Amino acid sequence: MVTDVVKIDPLAPEAAVIERAAELLRRGELVVFPTETVYGLGADALQPAALAGIFAAKGRPFSDPLIVHIAEYATLEALTSSIPAAARQLAQVFWPGPLTLILPRGERVPHIVTAGMETVAVRMPSHPVARALITALGSPIAAPSANRFMHISPTTAGHALADLNGRVPLILDGGSCDVGVESTILDLSAEVPLILRPGGVSLEALRAILPTVRPPVKRETALEEQAQKAPGQLSMHYAPAIPLLLFDGSEEAMRTAMLAELRQHRERGERVGVLVADADLAAFQASDALVYTLGDAAYPAQVAARLFASLRALEEAGVQVILCRNFAAHDLGLAIRDRLGRAAGGRIIRV
Ligand code: TXA
Ligand code: MG
Repeated sequence: MVTDVVKIDPLAPEAAVIERAAELLRRGELVVFPTETVYGLGADALQPAALAGIFAAKGRPFSDPLIVHIAEYATLEALTSSIPAAARQLAQVFWPGPLTLILPRGERVPHIVTAGMETVAVRMPSHPVARALITALGSPIAAPSANRFMHISPTTAGHALADLNGRVPLILDGGSCDVGVESTILDLSAEVPLILRPGGVSLEALRAILPTVRPPVKRETALEEQAQKAPGQLSMHYAPAIPLLLFDGSEEAMRTAMLAELRQHRERGERVGVLVADADLAAFQASDALVYTLGDAAYPAQVAARLFASLRALEEAGVQVILCRNFAAHDLGLAIRDRLGRAAGGRIIRV
């Protein structure tokens, strides 16, 4: 299969391009499209055969359920068997946007979407291309991130092409994703609302509307056991192809420990990639490592937007190891720490 990459205006998507993509989806084919979080690999959420194609293209196990994307609140009623008051409240504030709600599954949702579970994940994206595509199709779109299974989520069309070339007929190129990390997944199917995956809507923002929201279970204490409970949330889910050492501590301590670690790898003649913040750059100037900054550590939204692209860039540059600093947990920092922790796969050095 030849994969076409077609540019589309992210703010005012061209109707002809949207119609071409919608027609492919109607015929049961797959289309990669931009959302405000990451690129999605979409299929018509009501066509089971098309949905099977998603799992084949990604190399993803059927045990990992999909998020259903909608463009209008009214569609939620068709996808769920009941809508708790909390869902209405949260949707009013955070939709369209990077929040996914886990709700009781409606009868029309195919089992392949929910991995056989009685809950369904629903989100209303804010990206104009995603919204236009769902509307043109006239059906909700099921879409995981448009990467091969276990790889880093794509934040550009180029990333999606690198992973899915020859596996999908069409990639809509709407430029870089603004948020840069995936949506926050909030489980509203149980008594206490629980974050299953921190993401583009912060814990603080959710609590301002729903004070009972519980933060995600700490990875350090849960790890693999928790992975079994939230399908698809394997701790290695976001792993780059090369080892990543994550340093966690005060800015000064992280810098010192990273410089020491860097020296050791250089003495062995290894090519080293370094991921830091703007304020750390000077300390690494004299080193011959490949040094990338994720931006100003005081602005987690900026760091989140650059995170996945930087990991992919270091991967492509062929470094043998990545040394990365950690970031504070406030705001989008919770999602950043989660993704870096997964990328490190347990290789966390507390300093
Ligand atoms: O920002 C995002 O959420 C992106 C864009 C494309 O919308 N999508 C995304 O999808 O990240 P994916 O498939 O890569 O991650 C969705 C995760 C799954 O791994 C699964 O753990 C969880 O959502 N999920 C889906 N349905 C669920 C359910 N019924 N219960 C618990 N977790 C669910
Ligand atoms: Mg994913």
